[in-house]
Amino acid sequence: MAEALSRFRLPASLGGRTAFWLILALMLVQAAGLTIHALDRVDLQRFIHAREIAGRAFGAWRTAILAPADRREQMLADLDLPDGLSVELDRQPAVRVGAQPPPADVMRLFRLDLVNSGPPRLRPREVRLGAHAPGGFLASLRLPDGDWLNIRVEMPPPRPWHSATFLVAFVVMTVAAVLLILWAVARLMRPVRLLAEAADRLGRDVNAPPLPEGGPSEVATAARAFNVMAGRIRRFVADRTQMLAAIGHDLRTPITRLRLRAEFMDDDEQRRKMLSDLDEMEQMIAATLAFARDDAAAEPATPVDLAALCRTVADEAADARPELAEAIAFEGPERLTIRARPIALKRAIANLVSNALAYGGAARLRLVPPEGGVVRLAVEDDGPGIPEAELEAVFTPFRRLEASRNRETGGTGLGLTIARNILRAHGGDVVLTNRPQGGLRAVASLPA
Ligand SMILES: Nc1ncnc2c1ncn2[C@@H]1O[C@H](COP(=O)(O)OP(=O)(O)OP(=O)(O)O)[C@@H](O)[C@H]1O
Ligand SMILES: [Mg+2]
Repeated sequence: MAEALSRFRLPASLGGRTAFWLILALMLVQAAGLTIHALDRVDLQRFIHAREIAGRAFGAWRTAILAPADRREQMLADLDLPDGLSVELDRQPAVRVGAQPPPADVMRLFRLDLVNSGPPRLRPREVRLGAHAPGGFLASLRLPDGDWLNIRVEMPPPRPWHSATFLVAFVVMTVAAVLLILWAVARLMRPVRLLAEAADRLGRDVNAPPLPEGGPSEVATAARAFNVMAGRIRRFVADRTQMLAAIGHDLRTPITRLRLRAEFMDDDEQRRKMLSDLDEMEQMIAATLAFARDDAAAEPATPVDLAALCRTVADEAADARPELAEAIAFEGPERLTIRARPIALKRAIANLVSNALAYGGAARLRLVPPEGGVVRLAVEDDGPGIPEAELEAVFTPFRRLEASRNRETGGTGLGLTIARNILRAHGGDVVLTNRPQGGLRAVASLPA
């Protein structure tokens, strides 16, 4: 019992908990109501039963005293007596002298004090009363000719659930009340659920449609506050993007001017270096602008065959780096369709694959079918991996590790940032781990 209690967990959701407590309270109230009803019913039953037995016992006595002595026994046997009452003729009284008298409540219930009332010719010559079975009694009444009429009374056990229809009606009522509670709670919790869903949507897409601001006042207030907050976030993101675009744009003009001036340099070597630096700067600005524009958000989600997408990325990577074609492989199901933004998703996967090839010299893609509503795609390589402390840091924009500072092997340090942005916008994520055998494993997860 204690173990079962300690293993018991409240339902996780607010609605579940509310319904749980309401139903528990309903059960307590129903149990109390049922008990009150049953006690009342048992009381009434006892009273009616006692009255009937008392009346019938008196009838038996009248039969005994009025019948001729020779037919007395027969006539008593012919009486149809209710449950719990039996009478018999005997030479001896069933109640011995000095026997315990029946308790006062039994005396009162059966009106035993009335035994000696009535016309004198019907009164017993002697009456002895004794206790018998809980709630019952023994009475020995002496007939005028000396015989005894022994009356035995036992109260039948109480039957609180006398009628089946009552129980059925009670169960139906309880079930109806439980259903009503579940319905009401589900209705009440709907706005909370909607709010949670909207917050989740906003996390993936700042341009998600606003919440309806109707319903009960608290819900409307919360929805309004939420919409205002979403608007502020949108404006903040837009401002930031605009600022990045403006900086990028304004930097282009001085770079162009520098490029022109470089042409006038006499030292060929210095001029070449200068122009290559300027090229690099332009590339970085272009990448930054592309990142800031975030085209992914505008693309609509459609059903995408993830397996085919992975194969395409692998093929294109092999075409781009023919010398590494042998080290590129895809393993997974024939088809795996999910809802996604295909161009963005392809970019995310391509970024992971290009990193694996650039820093690990190989790219093995492994697609795992949905498990618990999540599809996983692992991209593994044979490179040096990333120091444990940097596994998260490399996701920040422009973060590049010492080893890859050489421009030949890498770009701007936005590849992982973009990949993670895209996957999170899909409701998924990407994490990096070092493989025990060496090399890096990037695992992208997506909702199936
Ligand atoms: N598979 C990998 N093995 C080892 N280091 C890696 C791997 N993938 C990424 N890194 C490290 O993480 C850094 C950030 O990667 P990220 O893809 O964000 O930028 P990048 O590849 O340098 O530039 P780009 O914007 O062109 O992708 C890389 O510079 C590299 O140091
Ligand atoms: Mg990269």
